[in-house]
Amino acid sequence: MKQSSVVDLLLLLLAIALLATPAFSDLVLSKVERRIDVTSQIARVTKTLKVVNSGSESVSEFALTFPKFLGNNLAYLSVAPSEGKGKSKRTLVNLSVREADQKGLPDSISVYSVALPKPLSKGDTLTLEVVAAFTNVLQPFPEKITQGEIHLVMLQESAQYLSPYAVESQSLSIKLPNARIESYTKFENTKLQGSELKYGPYKNLQSYSYSPIVVHFESKAAFAVAEKLVREIEVSHWGNVQVTENYNVVHRGAQLKGEFSRLDFQARPNPRGASAFRHLLARLPPRAHSIYYRDDIGNISTSEMKSDSKKTELLIEPRFPLFGGWKTFFTIGYGLPLTDFLFASEGKRFLNISFGSPILDLVTEKLIVQVVLPEGSKDISVTTPFAVKQSQEIKYSHLDIAGRPVVVLEKNNVVPDHNQHIQVYYKFSNINLLSEPLMLISGFFILFITCIIYTRADISISKSSPSYLAKLQWDEVLATLQEVQSIVQKCLATHDKLEASLRDLSRTGDIQTCKAARKSTDSLLKDLSKELKPLLGFLQSFPSASHISPKVLNFSLYLS
Ligand SMILES: *[C@@H]1O[C@H](CO)[C@@H](O)[C@H](O)[C@H]1NC(C)=O
Ligand SMILES: *[C@@H]1O[C@H](CO)[C@@H](O)[C@H](O)[C@H]1NC(C)=O
Ligand SMILES: *[C@@H]1O[C@H](CO)[C@@H](O)[C@H](O)[C@H]1NC(C)=O
Repeated sequence: MKQSSVVDLLLLLLAIALLATPAFSDLVLSKVERRIDVTSQIARVTKTLKVVNSGSESVSEFALTFPKFLGNNLAYLSVAPSEGKGKSKRTLVNLSVREADQKGLPDSISVYSVALPKPLSKGDTLTLEVVAAFTNVLQPFPEKITQGEIHLVMLQESAQYLSPYAVESQSLSIKLPNARIESYTKFENTKLQGSELKYGPYKNLQSYSYSPIVVHFESKAAFAVAEKLVREIEVSHWGNVQVTENYNVVHRGAQLKGEFSRLDFQARPNPRGASAFRHLLARLPPRAHSIYYRDDIGNISTSEMKSDSKKTELLIEPRFPLFGGWKTFFTIGYGLPLTDFLFASEGKRFLNISFGSPILDLVTEKLIVQVVLPEGSKDISVTTPFAVKQSQEIKYSHLDIAGRPVVVLEKNNVVPDHNQHIQVYYKFSNINLLSEPLMLISGFFILFITCIIYTRADISISKSSPSYLAKLQWDEVLATLQEVQSIVQKCLATHDKLEASLRDLSRTGDIQTCKAARKSTDSLLKDLSKELKPLLGFLQSFPSASHISPKVLNFSLYLS
């Protein structure tokens, strides 16, 4: 056992022994069932707590305590009241949880305070369902292994539930991966049944009962940790949500010591590389398309893909197997149909999309989600089911004028339980889709004014032939520009129609109609672009019109 954890444990035991005044004494837990699942790299704890108010006053807060060495690694916590006896009746609203003041408790205990849905009056009972996920609590032991050794990890817990309340009856079961179990702490009422280790039931325990246990077992799970993951989600009102994810993944299991032999690995990958992982599985939304997976060197096409109507699965296979301490960098990207993720509500649009990585059983130490909204989006707000750090940025890409607003969400220590939906609300006026053409029009308008001033000034000075000829030329340029302007207006009208059909699409889901609209728009724009070409040639032939033709050229590029 590691030196530091021994010290932690001793401190905790000492602190508990010294605990003089139980600050939360009015509640009693009549029944506690704890289940710990350690089949992945995450220790996921679910608890059913039956709470009884044995005091004389009603209680509106409930305290959850963890030994600090677990509390420090708590990644996810949700508490929900469970209604009635049937477990299926469980309501999905969780209760608000906050890290509580220590209330005179020692530092070696973490306390979370749960606000109850309604105060629990004298004699009443309430059942709570708690889900907690911990990272980094399965410690590799030994810390360094060779290529041929199996991967052993250690879990420390307490056979008795650490609680500020007295517990009448409790039991614990630990679900181990179905593999070798090196050792486990034996206690009264300890049973190992297959891969399930059971402690208890234990009756009538005082508050702060604590009896440390250690389980040492083999884990074949991938200890894949993304040290950093940047997910960019770009919304385009032309029908697509583009997701790009950049991963820095490390194997956080026992470090590989000694030489790595690829020859050995390839000949007998099972015994000669049992602790390595060779692939990761990403479960993408259904209808994901244009999927790619690449690393520094280029596209990796050996990855496999399976898809049906409910999901799309991408098997990510790095170029080399990952052993403990080894790192890899890769990018996956995919497009999603806009209509599956963008909705309208109360005059706003909102994107409803999942927060975390689609890779199964991945822990993300630092997750940055960047939602890139269309240019001109306003009144942006975000709803998340848990606390995240929020900020806003601007992103520029070609043909952007004001740039696209980017909502940046950051969260540390993200586990698959955080893979819930977030909503980004924003206002968007269709006129913004036309901001590029409108810019051109205002450019022309300024030009007209300049021309008028120029020709007037010219007339008032003289009517001598060179400037008169110049005026005639300008008249021609102006006539051409008017034609250009009428083409621009036609484009605007076409854009409007397409936008309307996109709106219909998000309402009716009728892809065929929208596709047809898109097709007719495309062909119209193509025609207009053809009409524009000779005018453009004409404008370019005038040296005096040189400062406007690039703008028109830009526009015609935009059309094609
Ligand atoms: C990688 O794949 C993507 C999508 O299939 C493709 O657009 C890109 O050109 C490919 N790049 C290379 C270097 O092959
Ligand atoms: C977001 O999508 C999820 C999954 O489709 C759905 O359960 C949830 O109700 C949606 N949220 C909103 C606010 O529409
Ligand atoms: C669920 O619990 C989290 C804390 O774990 C809290 O931040 C969030 O607001 C809760 N969600 C709801 C809908 O109550």
